Amino acid sequence: MIIGSISENLNLEQRVAITPDIVKKYKSLGLQVYLSKDYATHLGISDKNYETEGASIKSIDETISASDAILQMNILSNENLDKLKKDQILVGVLDPYNNEKKLSEITKKNIKCFSLELLPRITRAQSMDILSSQANLAGYKAVIDSFAYFQKAIPMMMTAAGTISAAKVLVVGAGVAGLQAIATAKRMGAIVFATDVRMASKEQVESLGGKFLTVEGSENLETEGGYAKETTDEFKQKQENLLRETLKKIDIVICTALIPGKKAPIIIKKDMIDVMTSGSVIYDLAASQGGNSELTKENSIIDSNGVKIMGEANILNKLPISASNLYAKNMFNFINNLYDEKNNSFNINLEDEIINKTNFK
Ligand code: NAI
Repeated sequence: MIIGSISENLNLEQRVAITPDIVKKYKSLGLQVYLSKDYATHLGISDKNYETEGASIKSIDETISASDAILQMNILSNENLDKLKKDQILVGVLDPYNNEKKLSEITKKNIKCFSLELLPRITRAQSMDILSSQANLAGYKAVIDSFAYFQKAIPMMMTAAGTISAAKVLVVGAGVAGLQAIATAKRMGAIVFATDVRMASKEQVESLGGKFLTVEGSENLETEGGYAKETTDEFKQKQENLLRETLKKIDIVICTALIPGKKAPIIIKKDMIDVMTSGSVIYDLAASQGGNSELTKENSIIDSNGVKIMGEANILNKLPISASNLYAKNMFNFINNLYDEKNNSFNINLEDEIINKTNFK
């Protein structure tokens, strides 16, 4: 059996789905690996590096037509989707909420699509969990980037010339990205506050040395799957009041709040930004889902009375090697579960929760 991967659209995506180390692992399973030319040269990884590990370098068309399974970061371009044939498998972050029509069309042709962002958050799927591996890096990088942009020092410093007070950071949404943002900001000496609608996150925030801001009288808004529920108008009002007060003393806000399959909740309104000190920074990791701040604009830095609102569409493009290394391992673990070594075939066993939940039907 052959697995293949072709170059992503480099204007939008720097990460790759297969790294040289992982080629070795696919080969030891008994799979052949086809990659398109210059697959990862933009990351400093040459075709030769891949060939040394046993991959075959082909054209895009050859890779698509010969592969039993095509493993990508993002969905293929329309032109390349048209080249897929019956019984082929496509795996990636296929964004089924936005690509529903395209995916329905190709599944009708009996092409099997697996979207890794739909993986269930169960113990057995942890090694495949691309949302966690990528969100963790995103949380780290959002802190690094916002601190670099902020024009003051972060930790408290007592010097002969006077004392610099520690920067105060607010993390909105304490899931995977938020918790890594808290840990990174703490390591750099900031004072960190955080808020979330899931009460389980309070203990996690506190264990990292953050101060949890609880919306008074709120219930735990968590689904059975561990994700956030949408908030009521009453909750939103209480959360706004709490944050409006807090934001007066905050230097940097890291926004990470998401609700799967929905537009990101708007949590920081324009009038709340107005109370912030000039020079403060809001880094909105939810930008590509619409943003958690009312003023966020994707891939732009907005200035509102001196407060800078940074909206990065794909922050992982700023550390694509680390992100690819983790993604490629997640992908390998997913394929390892799908591949039946004994029969040398992909076994689409819909009784397996991992396979069932990720399969676009
Ligand atoms: P996410 O990326 O969907 O959302 C980020 C955070 O924003 C979440 O903590 C969410 O509660 C919060 N949020 C949403 N709306 C909000 C609002 N209006 N105000 C404030 N906060 C808001 O979530 P992520 O990071 O993917 O984590 C989701 C859950 O999955 C968590 O419970 C996490 O502990 C769990 N998880 C479980 C794993 C497992 O294998 N068992 C692995 C990774 C995460």
